[in-house]
Amino acid sequence: MELIFPSVIIILGCVALLLFLQWKNLSGPPCISGWIPWIGAAFEFGKAPLEFIEKARIKYGPIFTVFAMGIRMTFVTEEEGIDVFLKSKEVNFEFAVQDPVYRTASIPKNVFLTLHEKLYILMKGKMGTFNLCQFTGQLTEELQEQLENLGTHGTRDLNILVRHLLYPVSVNTLFKKGLFPTNKRKIMEFYQHFKTYDEGFEHGSQMPEYLLRNWSKSKRWFLEFFEKNIPDIKTNKSEKDNSMTLMQALLEIIETETNEQSPNYGLLLLWASLSNAVPIAFWTLGFILSQPSIHKAIMEGISSVFGAAGKDKIKVSEDDLKKLPLIKWCILETIRLRAPGAITRKVLKPVKILNFTVPSGDLLMLSPFWLHRNPKYFPEPESFKPERWKEANLEKHAFLDGFVAFGSGKYQCPGRWLAMLEIEMCIILLFYYYDCRLLDPLPKQSSLHLVGVQQPEGLCRIEYTQRK
Ligand code: HEM
Repeated sequence: MELIFPSVIIILGCVALLLFLQWKNLSGPPCISGWIPWIGAAFEFGKAPLEFIEKARIKYGPIFTVFAMGIRMTFVTEEEGIDVFLKSKEVNFEFAVQDPVYRTASIPKNVFLTLHEKLYILMKGKMGTFNLCQFTGQLTEELQEQLENLGTHGTRDLNILVRHLLYPVSVNTLFKKGLFPTNKRKIMEFYQHFKTYDEGFEHGSQMPEYLLRNWSKSKRWFLEFFEKNIPDIKTNKSEKDNSMTLMQALLEIIETETNEQSPNYGLLLLWASLSNAVPIAFWTLGFILSQPSIHKAIMEGISSVFGAAGKDKIKVSEDDLKKLPLIKWCILETIRLRAPGAITRKVLKPVKILNFTVPSGDLLMLSPFWLHRNPKYFPEPESFKPERWKEANLEKHAFLDGFVAFGSGKYQCPGRWLAMLEIEMCIILLFYYYDCRLLDPLPKQSSLHLVGVQQPEGLCRIEYTQRK
């Protein structure tokens, strides 16, 4: 009798626990977990993640969980879930990205959490709309320098041309004038390593580095590049006004707070500044050049502001940019169509969405790419229609409802206005100096990415001839 009683209690306890776990599970969203423990749905999901989640939305409804590589990702696709993602205090950006940041840039999680808010505030201020005018002069100068290298005429893959313009411009503006290599071999090395690092970023953010040998080599190449150059970046001051570049200001905070000169943040800033802005510049030029009426309207705008296009060096002011809204609309419409596959937040306390409870520890996921294809927000969502941006109050720095390509909330992309400015200037100066036309149709998007904007797949040649 003495033995039976505790056994009954244990059995009843187990049954209660099982029922509780089952109830907990039932109250969660439908879960796609495959049949292999821990690996879960990783193989199917990893092949084409964006297509996978769109199929899952149709099959399981507006909220569902994908279990892969030991991680639960809960996707929200309709208003109520999106609202929680954007506004709830129980979901957090920093805890969601600390693992990927550690894997991709080797920044220890505790260092990231300690410094993040301070660094974010600095970046937001330095690249915010009030400060933007400080970039126009240097961007114009750097772009003009790179455009001179194009010669009087030629044909190139548009993707390569855009990289040749924007990599040096961004690096020299954000880190230090003259930091981007000028020697041909070194430039090629830089491009090759960035390509490998960028293409492997999605895997690199999830897997141990030893499984990705080439990616790891490129990562280490950049860490060494920054390690070598940090002393020079730190001491070099602008000749004109003694102002600091963004990287110099970041290094100052990092050094004060940690007593270290972290090259790792150099790598993170490099990736953030190039990985999205450069493909968006490619797609924007591609969309404009493949639509003759839009191309013509933009050319007319440029001549009306800067005079007949020609060889003279021009200065571009904030006022000039305000007179060319169509270019900005084309950039935003491009970002809408080629938006990042997903953005993410960590659930800190269980949150209720529709009839489900999303448990703490889940990654809450929102796909700008699919949200931008919701006709409720964007009628005829697959069409490139820059004129829809007329409705946005861009003077007040507001985008259209449902546009989340730069994320949202407290940690929205701090580089968004700079990205737009860089691309605007790139289009204006390229079209001012050169007659351009595409020799190939616009390529497809490569199989859709979760991390960052969508990349082109295949060749798209541009022919350019200097204007007389
Ligand atoms: C079209 C170009 C760009 C797109 C689409 C884009 C998009 C994004 C997105 C979606 C996020 C995550 C925000 C969130 O989860 O709420 C982000 C973060 C970030 N972006 Fe951008 N971005 C672009 C260009 C740039 C540029 C040019 C910079 C320049 C430095 C930059 C710097 C950053 C940084 C540093 C973060 C991390 C912010 C943090 O740690 O809180 N981005 N960006």
